[in-house]
Amino acid sequence: MAKEKSDKDIHLAKDLEDLPGIGPATAEKLKAEGFETIEKIATASPHELAEIGDISVDSAKKAIEVAKKSTEIGFETGEVIFERRKEIGKIDTGSKELNDLLGGGVETQSITEFFGKFGSGKTQVGFQLAVNTQKPKEQGGLGGKVLFVDSEATFRPERIKQIAEANGMDGTEVLKNILVARALNSDHQILLIDKADEIIPKENIKLIIVDSLTSQFRSDYVGRGALSERQQKLNRHIRTLQRLADKFNIAIYITNQVMDNPGILFGDPTTPIGGHVLAHQSTYRVYVRRGKEEKRIARLIDSPSMPEGECVFKVTANGVQ
Ligand code: GTP
Ligand code: MG
Repeated sequence: MAKEKSDKDIHLAKDLEDLPGIGPATAEKLKAEGFETIEKIATASPHELAEIGDISVDSAKKAIEVAKKSTEIGFETGEVIFERRKEIGKIDTGSKELNDLLGGGVETQSITEFFGKFGSGKTQVGFQLAVNTQKPKEQGGLGGKVLFVDSEATFRPERIKQIAEANGMDGTEVLKNILVARALNSDHQILLIDKADEIIPKENIKLIIVDSLTSQFRSDYVGRGALSERQQKLNRHIRTLQRLADKFNIAIYITNQVMDNPGILFGDPTTPIGGHVLAHQSTYRVYVRRGKEEKRIARLIDSPSMPEGECVFKVTANGVQ
């Protein structure tokens, strides 16, 4: 798929493929020779790059030029970052305990990942967030709409309506503010997120939900041989999400299922699909499991800013509590 590259994209080049004249095949060749990052491209010589990437010297020069610009803007003053962090908003999860675990709720400019077995409540938390995001700030929301990428066909409008009404909101209005797209396969899912740049400001989107992030990738890339390609695609997909989170000051909520018998692929039963790629890129990772009846136990795992900890919340008829 040929992607139009606007000036804006160019300045934000984070991946080799964001550079002009570098498609997936060229990127692959360059990465294989150790040019894995924009920084490395920025410091390469045009002839070297042309030879390894099998592109013209002119193309190589252009790619290097853009890579240089992109790394320049890679540096920001601490003050700029401080200012941006002041803008961080938080969405109420519905549970005070869960909010506390996350340092006040689901944050903008971050990726929050819930992983756990089927029925652990990942989707329910997503529904609750889809409702709460629409509330005004004083009530724990961000006064905005929601983009819901549904990759498992588990979006339930009736359930959203029920949760909304339990929160004293108009169910139909709440549903109008949730833009749902069913991801048909992993490439389609990637495309939906790649195209989100336009819709986010236009529709005042404040939260993107990808439920689940990994299932389509799991079925599209089967077997050991496909693992590295799958991880690469996932990696890029997550970086796009993080870029959207930063650029538009929005929150990202992703879910990830833990396989029932993961011993075949991974040693640890709590290792989510996507493994290390996700581990390093989600800002908040929460392992969630079922307790008795409506109870759910959430454990925060390797967060950069919050202590590890556990809490109990409930999934009830009225939503997350
Ligand atoms: P997978 O997507 O299969 O990996 O699971 P998940 O983690 O997304 O689970 P999900 O969020 O769909 O949780 C399903 C569970 O939520 C059900 O088994 C119920 O326990 C609970 N649940 C869903 N709807 C209701 C409801 O209307 N009332 C109550 N009390 N519980 C509900
Ligand atoms: Mg689910």
